[in-house]
Amino acid sequence: MTSLCYTVLSGYVTYSNLCQIFEDAESTHSITPGILAVKRIENCHDIGDLRVAAQKIIPRVVFDFLDGAADDEISMRDNSSSFGQYDLLPEVLTDVSDIDMTTTVMGQRMPLPLILAPTGLSRLFHPQGEKAVATAAADAGLTYSLSSGSSVSIEEIGTLTDGPKWFQIYVWKDRGLVSEFIARARAANYQALCLTVDVQVYGNRQRDLYNGMTTPIRLTRKLALDLVSHPLWWFNLITQGQPQLANVKDKMGDNVGDLNSQAAYINRQFDRSVTWDDAAWMIREWNGPFAIKGILNREDALRAVEIGASGIVVSNHGGRQLDHAAAPVNVLPDIVDAVAGRADIIVDGGIRRGTDIIKALGLGAQACMTGRPYLYGLAAGGEAGVARALKIFADEIERNMSLLGVRCTADIGRRHLRRKSMPPTYPSNYTWE
Ligand SMILES: Cc1cc2nc3c(=O)[nH]c(=O)nc-3n(C[C@H](O)[C@H](O)[C@H](O)COP(=O)(O)O)c2cc1C
Repeated sequence: MTSLCYTVLSGYVTYSNLCQIFEDAESTHSITPGILAVKRIENCHDIGDLRVAAQKIIPRVVFDFLDGAADDEISMRDNSSSFGQYDLLPEVLTDVSDIDMTTTVMGQRMPLPLILAPTGLSRLFHPQGEKAVATAAADAGLTYSLSSGSSVSIEEIGTLTDGPKWFQIYVWKDRGLVSEFIARARAANYQALCLTVDVQVYGNRQRDLYNGMTTPIRLTRKLALDLVSHPLWWFNLITQGQPQLANVKDKMGDNVGDLNSQAAYINRQFDRSVTWDDAAWMIREWNGPFAIKGILNREDALRAVEIGASGIVVSNHGGRQLDHAAAPVNVLPDIVDAVAGRADIIVDGGIRRGTDIIKALGLGAQACMTGRPYLYGLAAGGEAGVARALKIFADEIERNMSLLGVRCTADIGRRHLRRKSMPPTYPSNYTWE
């Protein structure tokens, strides 16, 4: 294996080298190529299983970029565990023979109260990247919010499926670029914009720093060994091309294919001087369904309503930005009460079970957003893996609504929830070691 690592690192990669690597790795069970990965997907019965499957298939440096969060990762853990603070109070003998899981968000009817959150650079996790996510979402009738930092372009995803789509945007320093993105999203038939407001600067993702996953990438011996011990991932990278920031790559001049230049360009665009006036300007420019993502207190929620936002995504960015930022579920009741139906509320972060979604709806949200869960599926099995993650959520919501004794999502209410007096406990694959 060592000589093969050397072969790959020194750039002499041939088809026969790679076959040899696959054989070696299979015999030591250190990787799970192709067909075995598909079998593994079928055996994934919850999001925790998909996470474990993803961890085995992609290099650690890539997995940590997907799975990790800022500083001590307190917010990320709290996002999930805070759902455990609530008990469910089922009602019995209620005729649940016909369960209706639909909801409406910003005027859009959805078959499930679940939206796929924007996540950048998805081709890092699987060569099909955002295409696999968009296709699986469209097949399930679910809304996919494409990230500004996607590795497949706004236009390609726009024409790929007829599924419902939102486009996630930032207020960049170059307002001309913002106007260009808005025009491109409109031309490509995205139905809503989702403005992310919690990236004034990039969060401190320490796993990435230790792993050398920085801009530019720091190629250490550890990183090199990590990469070569995942030959399937490598093989895809070599044969299908490295991920690019597809929406800005044509702005790089001579460095058109260079991810480092693209990332540096995007990093320079983050603007700390952005205010509510800029958000109001974007809402006017878009003139359609508009959600603001990254709100965590009632005053900001009220300001969002005042400037005309139709959706509020209660979110701490999955714990990837400000560590110790409140878990969405903990601030949700306050925000729901303040907004009082004037905008739709979406809870984002830490959703790992159908019961988490039911609890969010019980506290007054219209829907939830999910990021890492579908990315675990993507990494573990491409489009089939994303579809599996969505099916797991759908089955869990359907089953648990029946067990709770509610027939439709609108019937789920605060009467179904009670705050626990004891701290919650979760199985080990549900939280993060
Ligand atoms: C790998 C990764 C990339 C992300 N990229 C973006 C992004 O480009 N824009 C954005 O608004 N949020 C981004 N997020 C945050 C997600 O939209 C979402 O807020 C978060 O994943 C929710 O937490 P969860 O992963 O526990 O569901 C990203 C999250 C992950 C895991």
